[in-house]
Amino acid sequence: TRTYVVTGSASGIGATTAQLLRDRGERVIGIDLNNADVEADLSAPEGRTAAAAKAIEIADGIIDGVIACAGISAPIPKTISVNYFGVTELLEQLRPALAKSEAPRAAVVSSMASLQRHSAEMVDAALDGDEAKALEIGAELSAQGPQVGYLVYPSSKRALSRWVRRQSISPEWAGNGIPLNAVAPGTVLTPMTQKLLETEESRAMVDANVPMPLNYHQPPESIANLLIWLTSVENTHMAGQVIYDDGGAEVSLRGDDV
Ligand code: NAI
Repeated sequence: TRTYVVTGSASGIGATTAQLLRDRGERVIGIDLNNADVEADLSAPEGRTAAAAKAIEIADGIIDGVIACAGISAPIPKTISVNYFGVTELLEQLRPALAKSEAPRAAVVSSMASLQRHSAEMVDAALDGDEAKALEIGAELSAQGPQVGYLVYPSSKRALSRWVRRQSISPEWAGNGIPLNAVAPGTVLTPMTQKLLETEESRAMVDANVPMPLNYHQPPESIANLLIWLTSVENTHMAGQVIYDDGGAEVSLRGDDV
């Protein structure tokens, strides 16, 4: 039995991932705002620290896999805190417990939205570890209305994907034998997207930004199964990949250059 920490375990992709792992007989420590083994707010530094400490305590000090799914898509500054700092700071704090495993693995959920228009300034602030500055930029963006405020979301995911690529080959991750990768979904049918897909107009807008020629909108299982493979013992050499599991959205937007 392997011990996994899954964030965002109360809903959507995280809930499906936690359930599929438990079905396989693995031990899952879920982290979420509510309805989780560890209830914590990952938007704040104290919440991250408390969550990591509690998870490590429940795991008796050794964690085999971390799967970070918790995230929000609201056009507000907080989105950078949850989606970037809530993932990267938590992972850093869990890393010592991962390093004690014989086959440690970590995977995060980014998004194909990382390819959309974003704020390069916010991405840089995040990668610099400057949460206050990132929040300031977020406040400026969201003050210009939801359309501009939305840029916080692609910015948070772009920063996260880049963090994964940078860290994956570092002494801390690769040096400790910990594969670190990201999955970038297209439009997944979860509570996060439910409202957006309700009316024909809003669905058409989503589909224009996220074209999915292969099998259209995806169930959470499609992402959960990949996250589970990435954090399984079978994954020994994949480092820093951002895997677009998105119905062909990334190829549709970026073309055939490899
Ligand atoms: P969801 O809304 O169903 O689940 C997200 C979970 O994260 C919820 O249980 C929520 O309580 C938790 N969460 C939010 N803020 C938190 C905080 N401050 N502290 C602790 N937990 C918090 O959403 P879904 O669709 O399952 O999303 C999971 C991940 O997948 C997110 O990172 C999202 O950005 C990403 N994603 C989702 C896509 C979609 O179409 N649904 C597409 C691409 C990426």
